[in-house]
Amino acid sequence: MNFLSAAGMTTELLQEFEENLRRSVSEDDFIKESCTPLIQGGKRLRPMLFLLCANAHENISPEKTLPLAVALELIHTASLVHDDILDNSKKRRGTETAHSLYGSQIAVLIGDYLFAKAFQLVAENNYGDEVAQILSDLVKNLCRGEISQDLSLFSVPTMKDYYDRINLKTAIFISICCKLGGIVAGLNRDEVRGLTIYGNSMGLAFQIVDDLLDFFGNEKITGKNLGGDVKSGVITLPVIRALKVSDESKMLHEIVTNQEIAQREFSSAVTIVRTTDAFTYCKLRAQAHVDAAIINLPTEIKNSVRRTLEQVADFVVMRNS
Ligand code: FPP
Ligand code: MG
Repeated sequence: MNFLSAAGMTTELLQEFEENLRRSVSEDDFIKESCTPLIQGGKRLRPMLFLLCANAHENISPEKTLPLAVALELIHTASLVHDDILDNSKKRRGTETAHSLYGSQIAVLIGDYLFAKAFQLVAENNYGDEVAQILSDLVKNLCRGEISQDLSLFSVPTMKDYYDRINLKTAIFISICCKLGGIVAGLNRDEVRGLTIYGNSMGLAFQIVDDLLDFFGNEKITGKNLGGDVKSGVITLPVIRALKVSDESKMLHEIVTNQEIAQREFSSAVTIVRTTDAFTYCKLRAQAHVDAAIINLPTEIKNSVRRTLEQVADFVVMRNS
């Protein structure tokens, strides 16, 4: 599912976005060969939310929005390349990850390249200090989220720790896409605030569903291996719930908190979680965040944009990939 095509954006704008994104990773042969597959197959949620919010009142020129939309997708791609190294994930979007293909050393540098390219686009297109500051804060938060996750692998987080983590690693990014759209469009402070809160709640819902799909998804559709979080020691909401309600809670705890057992028995953990109400529990929580997102949408924005932002919110909960 590509969110951009679902968002009612004009075909030309979508094509131009894709073309600019492709061009951004074609500086030399190796970059082109290694990065082109990495930018393919994504949902484009971040650039789409940015573009929608930037067009919340009136359509603004693509020259003003596309470089930043591309930069957001590049930062996201860079973070996934690094994340797959940290999580030792072999598959992403149905294809081999960069570190599986090129080794971790090169994959780190590919991520760094994408990340630097994003900031180059922002500088070259004169988005100004505020935008650069927001993006640097974003990347610092992404890193803090991943560091806190990595420092607590194989230990059960409290609900607060879980929420702090998904806020840093996902929700802040999604809220910033909406905020930047509002800023580039010159919306007033209250409107930008409403869009930012919408994005934050959407981001929490998005990550909860992501964590849910690790247990309940279809590998062919998600493009990722089931049970990857358990295997890599990341304990998420479905496990937190199952530990509370499952008859096999003791066994589940033993698996998810012990690296050796988790590597071997991750599929038993998936089975235990699947026999509880974790699916419904996580969906209800995600739905509550999406409801909060919609309530916070500013009233002044165009109807067509509002409707699409509502549809995207619903899709975030319903998605299966
Ligand atoms: C996916 O989470 C990963 C993230 C949301 C953020 C990763 C961020 C970093 C590695 C920090 C470095 C950032 C840059 C820009 C260099 P997940 O593992 O829960 O999701 P998955 O199931 O898709 O892997
Ligand atoms: Mg991961």
